[in-house]
Amino acid sequence: MTSARTIKLGLILHGVGRTWDDWRHPDRDVTASTNFAFYTQQAQLAEQGKFHFLFVADSLSINDKSSPHYLNRFEPLTILSGLAAVTSKIGLVGTLTVSYSEPFNVARQFSSLDHLSGGRAGWNVVTSWLGETSANFSRAEHPAHDVRYRIAAEYLDVVQGLWDSWEDDALVADKSTGVFVNPDKLHALNHKGEFFQVRGPLNIKRSRQGQPVIFQAGASDDGRNFAAKRAEAIFCGPANIDEAQSYYRDVKARARGFGREGREPLILPGVAPIVGLDETDAEARYQELLALTSIETGLGFLARTFNDHDFRRYDLDGPFPDVEHIGWNSQQSGTQRILKLVREENLTLRQVAQRLASPRGDFVGTPVQVADKLQEWFASEAADGFVLFEPLPGQLRLFVDHVIPILQERGLFHHDYEGGTFREQLGLPFPVNRHTQARGAQSAA
Ligand SMILES: Cc1cc2nc3c(=O)[nH]c(=O)nc-3n(C[C@H](O)[C@H](O)[C@H](O)COP(=O)(O)O)c2cc1C
Repeated sequence: MTSARTIKLGLILHGVGRTWDDWRHPDRDVTASTNFAFYTQQAQLAEQGKFHFLFVADSLSINDKSSPHYLNRFEPLTILSGLAAVTSKIGLVGTLTVSYSEPFNVARQFSSLDHLSGGRAGWNVVTSWLGETSANFSRAEHPAHDVRYRIAAEYLDVVQGLWDSWEDDALVADKSTGVFVNPDKLHALNHKGEFFQVRGPLNIKRSRQGQPVIFQAGASDDGRNFAAKRAEAIFCGPANIDEAQSYYRDVKARARGFGREGREPLILPGVAPIVGLDETDAEARYQELLALTSIETGLGFLARTFNDHDFRRYDLDGPFPDVEHIGWNSQQSGTQRILKLVREENLTLRQVAQRLASPRGDFVGTPVQVADKLQEWFASEAADGFVLFEPLPGQLRLFVDHVIPILQERGLFHHDYEGGTFREQLGLPFPVNRHTQARGAQSAA
Protein backbone atom coordinates (compact mmCIF):
# COMPACT_ATOMS: atom_id res chain seq x y z
CA MET A 1 0.00 0.00 0.00
CA THR A 2 1.48 3.32 -0.99
CA SER A 3 -1.51 5.63 -0.53
CA ALA A 4 -1.61 7.94 2.50
CA ARG A 5 -3.08 6.48 5.63
CA THR A 6 -6.56 7.94 6.26
CA ILE A 7 -9.23 7.39 8.89
CA LYS A 8 -11.77 4.62 8.20
CA LEU A 9 -15.24 5.17 9.63
CA GLY A 10 -18.13 2.86 10.34
CA LEU A 11 -21.53 3.50 11.91
CA ILE A 12 -23.19 1.02 14.27
CA LEU A 13 -26.92 0.89 13.63
CA HIS A 14 -28.34 0.58 17.09
CA GLY A 15 -32.05 1.37 16.78
CA VAL A 16 -33.43 2.56 20.10
CA GLY A 17 -29.94 3.02 21.53
CA ARG A 18 -26.93 1.44 23.10
CA THR A 19 -27.89 1.36 26.77
CA TRP A 20 -30.89 0.34 28.82
CA ASP A 21 -32.08 3.95 29.08
CA ASP A 22 -31.26 5.66 25.75
CA TRP A 23 -34.69 4.84 24.36
CA ARG A 24 -36.32 7.24 26.83
CA HIS A 25 -34.84 10.34 25.19
CA PRO A 26 -37.72 12.60 24.06
CA ASP A 27 -36.53 12.57 20.43
CA ARG A 28 -35.89 8.83 20.23
CA ASP A 29 -38.13 6.81 17.91
CA VAL A 30 -39.11 3.83 20.08
CA THR A 31 -39.84 1.74 17.00
CA ALA A 32 -36.35 2.36 15.55
CA SER A 33 -34.83 -1.11 16.10
CA THR A 34 -37.32 -2.76 13.76
CA ASN A 35 -38.16 0.23 11.60
CA PHE A 36 -36.79 0.01 8.06
CA ALA A 37 -37.43 3.71 7.45
CA PHE A 38 -35.16 4.57 10.41
CA TYR A 39 -32.39 2.27 9.17
CA THR A 40 -32.69 3.67 5.66
CA GLN A 41 -32.43 7.23 6.88
CA GLN A 42 -29.35 6.46 9.05
CA ALA A 43 -27.70 4.50 6.23
CA GLN A 44 -28.25 7.21 3.65
CA LEU A 45 -27.02 9.91 6.01
CA ALA A 46 -23.87 7.87 6.72
CA GLU A 47 -23.36 7.40 2.99
CA GLN A 48 -23.78 11.13 2.45
CA GLY A 49 -21.00 11.56 5.05
CA LYS A 50 -18.85 9.04 3.10
CA PHE A 51 -18.69 6.57 5.99
CA HIS A 52 -16.90 3.42 4.88
CA PHE A 53 -19.44 1.03 6.37
CA LEU A 54 -22.56 0.33 8.35
CA PHE A 55 -22.40 -2.30 11.06
CA VAL A 56 -25.23 -4.39 12.48
CA ALA A 57 -24.26 -6.19 15.70
CA ASP A 58 -26.01 -9.29 16.98
CA SER A 59 -26.44 -11.94 19.65
CA LEU A 60 -28.81 -14.88 19.92
CA SER A 61 -30.49 -14.94 23.28
CA ILE A 62 -32.39 -12.47 25.43
CA ASN A 63 -33.53 -12.37 29.04
CA ASP A 64 -34.85 -9.91 31.62
CA LYS A 65 -31.48 -8.12 31.69
CA SER A 66 -31.21 -7.48 27.96
CA SER A 67 -31.25 -3.85 26.86
CA PRO A 68 -34.17 -2.62 24.75
CA HIS A 69 -32.37 -2.77 21.39
CA TYR A 70 -31.20 -6.32 22.12
CA LEU A 71 -34.74 -7.38 23.01
CA ASN A 72 -36.25 -6.45 19.69
CA ARG A 73 -34.05 -6.10 16.63
CA PHE A 74 -33.52 -7.20 13.06
CA GLU A 75 -31.44 -10.22 12.06
CA PRO A 76 -28.29 -8.62 10.54
CA LEU A 77 -28.22 -10.18 7.08
CA THR A 78 -31.89 -9.47 6.52
CA ILE A 79 -31.64 -5.77 7.33
CA LEU A 80 -28.31 -5.41 5.48
CA SER A 81 -29.89 -6.93 2.37
CA GLY A 82 -32.63 -4.31 2.59
CA LEU A 83 -30.06 -1.56 3.03
CA ALA A 84 -28.10 -2.83 0.02
CA ALA A 85 -31.04 -1.71 -2.10
CA VAL A 86 -31.24 1.83 -0.72
CA THR A 87 -27.50 2.61 -0.69
CA SER A 88 -24.83 2.25 -3.37
CA LYS A 89 -21.33 2.74 -2.00
CA ILE A 90 -21.21 2.11 1.71
CA GLY A 91 -19.95 -1.24 3.12
CA LEU A 92 -22.43 -3.53 4.89
CA VAL A 93 -21.02 -5.43 7.86
CA GLY A 94 -22.99 -7.88 9.98
CA THR A 95 -22.29 -10.11 12.96
CA LEU A 96 -22.85 -13.83 12.72
CA THR A 97 -21.69 -16.30 15.35
CA VAL A 98 -19.70 -19.43 14.58
CA SER A 99 -20.99 -21.15 17.72
CA TYR A 100 -24.57 -21.55 16.50
CA SER A 101 -24.52 -21.78 12.73
CA GLU A 102 -23.18 -23.91 9.89
CA PRO A 103 -20.31 -22.66 7.71
CA PHE A 104 -21.97 -23.68 4.46
CA ASN A 105 -25.06 -21.58 5.19
CA VAL A 106 -23.01 -18.63 6.38
CA ALA A 107 -20.67 -18.71 3.37
CA ARG A 108 -23.73 -18.67 1.15
CA GLN A 109 -25.54 -15.91 3.06
CA PHE A 110 -22.59 -13.50 3.04
CA SER A 111 -21.81 -14.30 -0.57
CA SER A 112 -25.43 -13.52 -1.43
CA LEU A 113 -25.20 -10.18 0.37
CA ASP A 114 -21.92 -9.50 -1.43
CA HIS A 115 -23.60 -10.12 -4.81
CA LEU A 116 -26.73 -8.15 -3.92
CA SER A 117 -24.67 -5.14 -2.90
CA GLY A 118 -22.11 -5.19 -5.72
CA GLY A 119 -19.21 -6.27 -3.46
CA ARG A 120 -19.92 -4.40 -0.23
CA ALA A 121 -20.30 -7.19 2.36
CA GLY A 122 -18.32 -7.74 5.55
CA TRP A 123 -18.68 -10.43 8.20
CA ASN A 124 -17.99 -9.77 11.89
CA VAL A 125 -16.98 -13.24 13.09
CA VAL A 126 -17.96 -13.69 16.74
CA THR A 127 -18.05 -16.73 19.01
CA SER A 128 -20.92 -15.59 21.35
CA TRP A 129 -20.16 -15.06 24.99
CA LEU A 130 -23.64 -15.51 26.49
CA GLY A 131 -23.66 -19.02 27.91
CA GLU A 132 -27.42 -19.42 27.87
CA THR A 133 -27.48 -19.10 24.07
CA SER A 134 -27.16 -22.90 23.98
CA ALA A 135 -30.73 -23.15 25.30
CA ASN A 136 -32.02 -21.72 22.01
CA PHE A 137 -30.14 -24.22 19.88
CA SER A 138 -30.95 -27.65 21.29
CA ARG A 139 -27.55 -27.84 22.99
CA ALA A 140 -26.87 -28.89 26.56
CA GLU A 141 -23.84 -26.62 26.92
CA HIS A 142 -22.23 -23.49 25.55
CA PRO A 143 -18.76 -24.36 24.20
CA ALA A 144 -15.87 -23.22 26.45
CA HIS A 145 -13.94 -20.06 25.52
CA ASP A 146 -10.85 -21.79 24.05
CA VAL A 147 -13.01 -24.32 22.17
CA ARG A 148 -15.04 -21.47 20.65
CA TYR A 149 -11.87 -19.99 19.18
CA ARG A 150 -10.78 -23.40 17.84
CA ILE A 151 -14.20 -23.70 16.22
CA ALA A 152 -13.85 -20.16 14.84
CA ALA A 153 -10.50 -20.88 13.17
CA GLU A 154 -11.73 -24.04 11.47
CA TYR A 155 -15.04 -22.42 10.60
CA LEU A 156 -13.32 -19.55 8.82
CA ASP A 157 -11.12 -22.01 6.92
CA VAL A 158 -14.28 -23.69 5.66
CA VAL A 159 -16.11 -20.48 4.76
CA GLN A 160 -13.16 -18.98 2.92
CA GLY A 161 -12.51 -22.33 1.24
CA LEU A 162 -16.10 -22.35 0.01
CA TRP A 163 -15.85 -18.76 -1.22
CA ASP A 164 -12.86 -19.91 -3.26
CA SER A 165 -14.59 -23.02 -4.58
CA TRP A 166 -15.51 -20.98 -7.65
CA GLU A 167 -12.63 -19.36 -9.51
CA ASP A 168 -13.48 -15.84 -10.65
CA ASP A 169 -14.17 -16.92 -14.23
CA ALA A 170 -15.75 -20.33 -13.53
CA LEU A 171 -19.21 -19.23 -14.68
CA VAL A 172 -18.92 -19.22 -18.46
CA ALA A 173 -22.59 -19.14 -19.57
CA ASP A 174 -21.62 -19.45 -23.26
CA LYS A 175 -24.83 -19.98 -25.22
CA SER A 176 -22.96 -20.89 -28.41
CA THR A 177 -21.07 -23.80 -26.85
CA GLY A 178 -23.69 -24.71 -24.26
CA VAL A 179 -21.10 -24.50 -21.46
CA PHE A 180 -22.59 -22.92 -18.35
CA VAL A 181 -19.82 -23.67 -15.85
CA ASN A 182 -16.21 -24.57 -16.54
CA PRO A 183 -15.80 -27.74 -14.45
CA ASP A 184 -12.01 -27.20 -14.20
CA LYS A 185 -12.68 -23.97 -12.30
CA LEU A 186 -15.27 -25.28 -9.87
CA HIS A 187 -13.70 -27.07 -6.91
CA ALA A 188 -14.92 -29.29 -4.12
CA LEU A 189 -13.53 -28.41 -0.70
CA ASN A 190 -13.58 -31.87 0.88
CA HIS A 191 -12.92 -30.43 4.32
CA LYS A 192 -12.71 -32.96 7.16
CA GLY A 193 -11.71 -31.36 10.43
CA GLU A 194 -12.23 -31.48 14.18
CA PHE A 195 -15.66 -29.81 14.03
CA PHE A 196 -16.80 -29.72 10.41
CA GLN A 197 -17.02 -31.98 7.39
CA VAL A 198 -17.93 -30.01 4.29
CA ARG A 199 -17.64 -31.23 0.73
CA GLY A 200 -18.57 -28.14 -1.33
CA PRO A 201 -18.49 -26.48 -3.77
CA LEU A 202 -20.64 -23.52 -2.71
CA ASN A 203 -23.82 -22.96 -4.71
CA ILE A 204 -23.07 -19.34 -5.54
CA LYS A 205 -20.19 -17.99 -7.59
CA ARG A 206 -17.38 -15.79 -6.35
CA SER A 207 -18.35 -12.16 -5.77
CA ARG A 208 -16.95 -8.99 -7.25
CA GLN A 209 -14.63 -8.35 -4.29
CA GLY A 210 -13.54 -11.99 -4.23
CA GLN A 211 -14.53 -12.56 -0.62
CA PRO A 212 -16.45 -10.50 1.94
CA VAL A 213 -14.21 -8.55 4.33
CA ILE A 214 -13.51 -10.31 7.64
CA PHE A 215 -14.11 -8.33 10.84
CA GLN A 216 -13.51 -9.54 14.38
CA ALA A 217 -13.57 -8.16 17.92
CA GLY A 218 -11.22 -10.44 19.82
CA ALA A 219 -10.04 -8.95 23.06
CA SER A 220 -8.84 -11.89 25.20
CA ASP A 221 -5.52 -13.61 24.47
CA ASP A 222 -7.17 -16.24 22.25
CA GLY A 223 -9.40 -13.60 20.70
CA ARG A 224 -6.49 -11.29 19.89
CA ASN A 225 -4.53 -14.12 18.31
CA PHE A 226 -7.48 -15.10 16.17
CA ALA A 227 -8.12 -11.50 15.13
CA ALA A 228 -4.43 -10.78 14.49
CA LYS A 229 -4.10 -13.87 12.33
CA ARG A 230 -7.36 -13.81 10.40
CA ALA A 231 -9.21 -10.48 10.55
CA GLU A 232 -8.91 -7.68 8.04
CA ALA A 233 -10.47 -5.17 10.44
CA ILE A 234 -10.97 -5.37 14.20
CA PHE A 235 -13.43 -3.69 16.55
CA CYS A 236 -12.31 -2.93 20.07
CA GLY A 237 -13.71 -1.08 23.04
CA PRO A 238 -10.85 0.70 24.85
CA ALA A 239 -11.76 2.95 27.77
CA ASN A 240 -9.14 5.58 26.88
CA ILE A 241 -6.29 6.39 24.49
CA ASP A 242 -3.68 4.52 26.55
CA GLU A 243 -5.70 1.32 26.43
CA ALA A 244 -6.29 1.85 22.71
CA GLN A 245 -2.58 2.30 22.02
CA SER A 246 -1.61 -0.75 23.98
CA TYR A 247 -4.27 -2.86 22.20
CA TYR A 248 -3.13 -1.47 18.84
CA ARG A 249 0.55 -2.22 19.49
CA ASP A 250 -0.20 -5.67 20.82
CA VAL A 251 -2.47 -6.79 17.98
CA LYS A 252 -0.27 -5.33 15.24
CA ALA A 253 2.75 -7.10 16.78
CA ARG A 254 0.81 -10.36 16.91
CA ALA A 255 -0.18 -9.88 13.25
CA ARG A 256 3.46 -9.37 12.26
CA GLY A 257 4.28 -12.48 14.29
CA PHE A 258 1.85 -14.38 12.06
CA GLY A 259 3.78 -13.15 9.02
CA ARG A 260 1.34 -10.43 8.04
CA GLU A 261 2.77 -7.31 6.47
CA GLY A 262 1.40 -3.83 5.84
CA ARG A 263 -1.42 -2.15 7.72
CA GLU A 264 -3.71 -5.05 8.30
CA PRO A 265 -5.66 -5.69 10.35
CA LEU A 266 -7.25 -2.25 10.60
CA ILE A 267 -8.04 -1.45 14.22
CA LEU A 268 -11.29 0.39 14.84
CA PRO A 269 -12.23 1.36 18.40
CA GLY A 270 -15.92 1.93 19.13
CA VAL A 271 -16.60 5.57 20.10
CA ALA A 272 -19.74 7.55 20.91
CA PRO A 273 -18.98 11.21 20.18
CA ILE A 274 -21.23 13.91 21.54
CA VAL A 275 -20.90 16.96 19.34
CA GLY A 276 -22.19 20.40 20.32
CA LEU A 277 -22.02 23.59 18.33
CA ASP A 278 -20.05 25.16 21.18
CA GLU A 279 -18.67 23.84 24.47
CA THR A 280 -21.79 24.76 26.46
CA ASP A 281 -23.98 23.03 23.90
CA ALA A 282 -21.78 19.90 23.98
CA GLU A 283 -21.86 19.79 27.77
CA ALA A 284 -25.65 20.25 27.79
CA ARG A 285 -26.04 17.34 25.39
CA TYR A 286 -23.80 15.16 27.53
CA GLN A 287 -25.90 16.05 30.59
CA GLU A 288 -28.99 15.09 28.59
CA LEU A 289 -27.49 11.64 28.14
CA LEU A 290 -26.46 11.37 31.80
CA ALA A 291 -29.95 12.32 32.94
CA LEU A 292 -31.25 9.20 31.19
CA THR A 293 -28.96 6.71 32.92
CA SER A 294 -29.65 4.88 36.18
CA ILE A 295 -27.72 2.63 38.58
CA GLU A 296 -29.67 -0.25 37.04
CA THR A 297 -27.92 0.51 33.75
CA GLY A 298 -24.50 0.06 35.33
CA LEU A 299 -25.63 -3.16 36.99
CA GLY A 300 -26.93 -4.28 33.60
CA PHE A 301 -23.55 -3.65 31.95
CA LEU A 302 -21.94 -5.69 34.68
CA ALA A 303 -24.45 -8.52 34.32
CA ARG A 304 -23.91 -8.67 30.60
CA THR A 305 -20.15 -8.71 30.90
CA PHE A 306 -20.22 -11.41 33.60
CA ASN A 307 -22.38 -13.93 31.73
CA ASP A 308 -25.69 -12.55 33.04
CA HIS A 309 -24.70 -12.76 36.67
CA ASP A 310 -27.22 -10.93 38.90
CA PHE A 311 -25.37 -8.12 40.69
CA ARG A 312 -28.55 -6.78 42.31
CA ARG A 313 -28.16 -9.37 45.05
CA TYR A 314 -25.10 -7.60 46.53
CA ASP A 315 -24.79 -4.57 48.80
CA LEU A 316 -24.23 -1.61 46.47
CA ASP A 317 -21.92 0.08 48.98
CA GLY A 318 -20.02 -3.02 50.00
CA PRO A 319 -16.82 -4.28 48.39
CA PHE A 320 -17.05 -5.44 44.79
CA PRO A 321 -18.10 -9.14 44.89
CA ASP A 322 -15.69 -11.95 44.09
CA VAL A 323 -16.86 -12.87 40.59
CA GLU A 324 -13.57 -13.53 38.80
CA HIS A 325 -14.47 -17.19 38.22
CA ILE A 326 -17.61 -16.13 36.30
CA GLY A 327 -15.73 -13.80 34.01
CA TRP A 328 -13.27 -16.38 32.85
CA ASN A 329 -15.54 -18.29 30.53
CA SER A 330 -17.56 -15.35 29.23
CA GLN A 331 -15.99 -12.10 28.12
CA GLN A 332 -12.47 -12.41 29.50
CA SER A 333 -11.12 -9.06 28.44
CA GLY A 334 -14.12 -7.04 29.62
CA THR A 335 -14.24 -8.74 33.00
CA GLN A 336 -10.49 -8.43 33.52
CA ARG A 337 -10.62 -4.71 32.79
CA ILE A 338 -13.32 -4.19 35.42
CA LEU A 339 -11.55 -6.34 38.00
CA LYS A 340 -8.30 -4.44 37.41
CA LEU A 341 -10.11 -1.14 38.02
CA VAL A 342 -11.63 -2.54 41.22
CA ARG A 343 -8.24 -3.70 42.48
CA GLU A 344 -6.43 -0.49 41.61
CA GLU A 345 -8.98 1.90 43.08
CA ASN A 346 -10.68 -0.29 45.67
CA LEU A 347 -14.12 0.55 44.27
CA THR A 348 -17.52 -0.44 45.64
CA LEU A 349 -20.13 -2.06 43.44
CA ARG A 350 -22.03 1.25 43.20
CA GLN A 351 -18.92 3.12 42.04
CA VAL A 352 -18.17 0.54 39.37
CA ALA A 353 -21.79 0.61 38.16
CA GLN A 354 -21.81 4.42 37.95
CA ARG A 355 -18.61 4.50 35.92
CA LEU A 356 -19.96 1.95 33.51
CA ALA A 357 -23.32 3.69 33.18
CA SER A 358 -21.97 7.09 32.27
CA PRO A 359 -18.46 7.02 30.84
CA ARG A 360 -17.67 10.43 29.44
CA GLY A 361 -14.84 9.35 27.19
CA ASP A 362 -12.64 11.55 25.03
CA PHE A 363 -15.19 12.64 22.47
CA VAL A 364 -17.51 15.24 23.99
CA GLY A 365 -17.00 18.72 22.54
CA THR A 366 -17.23 21.13 19.65
CA PRO A 367 -16.70 19.79 16.12
CA VAL A 368 -13.07 20.95 16.24
CA GLN A 369 -12.49 19.36 19.64
CA VAL A 370 -14.00 16.06 18.51
CA ALA A 371 -11.99 16.14 15.27
CA ASP A 372 -8.83 16.92 17.29
CA LYS A 373 -9.39 13.87 19.49
CA LEU A 374 -10.09 11.57 16.54
CA GLN A 375 -6.91 12.89 14.92
CA GLU A 376 -4.92 12.38 18.11
CA TRP A 377 -6.05 8.76 18.41
CA PHE A 378 -5.38 8.13 14.72
CA ALA A 379 -1.98 9.86 14.59
CA SER A 380 -0.70 8.27 17.79
CA GLU A 381 -1.50 4.77 16.58
CA ALA A 382 -4.38 4.13 18.89
CA ALA A 383 -6.67 3.57 15.88
CA ASP A 384 -6.82 3.18 12.11
CA GLY A 385 -10.36 4.47 12.21
CA PHE A 386 -13.47 4.24 14.35
CA VAL A 387 -16.85 2.67 14.54
CA LEU A 388 -19.35 5.23 15.80
CA PHE A 389 -22.36 4.79 18.01
CA GLU A 390 -24.95 7.57 17.90
CA PRO A 391 -25.44 8.24 21.62
CA LEU A 392 -28.25 10.78 21.19
CA PRO A 393 -30.72 11.37 18.37
CA GLY A 394 -29.38 13.98 15.94
CA GLN A 395 -25.71 13.26 16.65
CA LEU A 396 -25.07 11.53 13.33
CA ARG A 397 -26.34 14.58 11.46
CA LEU A 398 -24.09 16.88 13.54
CA PHE A 399 -21.11 14.60 12.93
CA VAL A 400 -21.69 14.44 9.17
CA ASP A 401 -22.30 18.18 8.80
CA HIS A 402 -19.63 19.50 11.16
CA VAL A 403 -16.92 16.95 12.00
CA ILE A 404 -16.45 15.15 8.67
CA PRO A 405 -15.63 18.39 6.76
CA ILE A 406 -12.92 19.22 9.30
CA LEU A 407 -11.37 15.76 8.92
CA GLN A 408 -11.53 16.16 5.14
CA GLU A 409 -9.90 19.60 5.22
CA ARG A 410 -7.08 18.15 7.28
CA GLY A 411 -6.53 15.39 4.71
CA LEU A 412 -7.50 12.76 7.27
CA PHE A 413 -10.66 11.49 5.61
CA HIS A 414 -11.57 10.79 1.99
CA HIS A 415 -13.73 13.27 0.07
CA ASP A 416 -15.52 10.55 -1.84
CA TYR A 417 -15.70 6.81 -2.31
CA GLU A 418 -12.77 5.46 -4.28
CA GLY A 419 -13.09 2.19 -6.14
CA GLY A 420 -16.16 0.06 -6.43
CA THR A 421 -15.94 -2.57 -3.73
CA PHE A 422 -15.80 -2.39 0.05
CA ARG A 423 -12.26 -3.82 -0.01
CA GLU A 424 -11.16 -1.04 -2.32
CA GLN A 425 -12.71 1.60 -0.03
CA LEU A 426 -10.75 0.16 2.89
CA GLY A 427 -7.53 -0.20 0.87
CA LEU A 428 -7.54 -3.97 1.37
CA PRO A 429 -6.07 -6.28 -1.28
CA PHE A 430 -8.20 -8.48 -3.53
CA PRO A 431 -7.94 -12.06 -2.23
CA VAL A 432 -6.57 -14.02 -5.18
CA ASN A 433 -8.45 -17.30 -5.57
CA ARG A 434 -6.30 -20.13 -4.17
CA HIS A 435 -6.97 -22.43 -7.15
CA THR A 436 -6.21 -19.73 -9.69
CA GLN A 437 -3.02 -18.96 -7.78
CA ALA A 438 -1.98 -22.62 -7.67
CA ARG A 439 -2.65 -22.95 -11.41
CA GLY A 440 -0.51 -19.84 -12.03
CA ALA A 441 2.30 -21.23 -9.88
CA GLN A 442 2.13 -24.56 -11.72
CA SER A 443 2.30 -23.01 -15.15
CA ALA A 444 5.17 -20.72 -14.09
CA ALA A 445 7.17 -23.75 -12.88
C1 LIG B 1 -17.48 -2.35 18.48
C2 LIG B 1 -17.75 -3.74 18.97
C3 LIG B 1 -18.76 -4.48 18.39
C4 LIG B 1 -19.06 -5.79 18.82
N1 LIG B 1 -20.08 -6.48 18.25
C5 LIG B 1 -20.41 -7.70 18.73
C6 LIG B 1 -21.52 -8.41 18.23
O1 LIG B 1 -22.22 -7.96 17.32
N2 LIG B 1 -21.82 -9.61 18.77
C7 LIG B 1 -21.07 -10.17 19.76
O2 LIG B 1 -21.38 -11.26 20.22
N3 LIG B 1 -20.01 -9.51 20.26
C8 LIG B 1 -19.68 -8.29 19.77
N4 LIG B 1 -18.62 -7.62 20.28
C9 LIG B 1 -18.01 -8.14 21.45
C10 LIG B 1 -16.85 -8.96 21.19
O3 LIG B 1 -17.23 -10.11 20.50
C11 LIG B 1 -16.41 -9.24 22.59
O4 LIG B 1 -15.50 -8.25 22.95
C12 LIG B 1 -15.92 -10.58 22.71
O5 LIG B 1 -16.39 -11.06 23.92
C13 LIG B 1 -14.43 -10.65 22.66
O6 LIG B 1 -14.17 -11.90 22.98
P1 LIG B 1 -12.97 -12.32 23.92
O7 LIG B 1 -12.90 -11.30 25.02
O8 LIG B 1 -13.42 -13.64 24.39
O9 LIG B 1 -11.78 -12.34 23.02
C14 LIG B 1 -18.31 -6.33 19.86
C15 LIG B 1 -17.26 -5.59 20.44
C16 LIG B 1 -16.98 -4.31 20.02
C17 LIG B 1 -15.87 -3.56 20.67
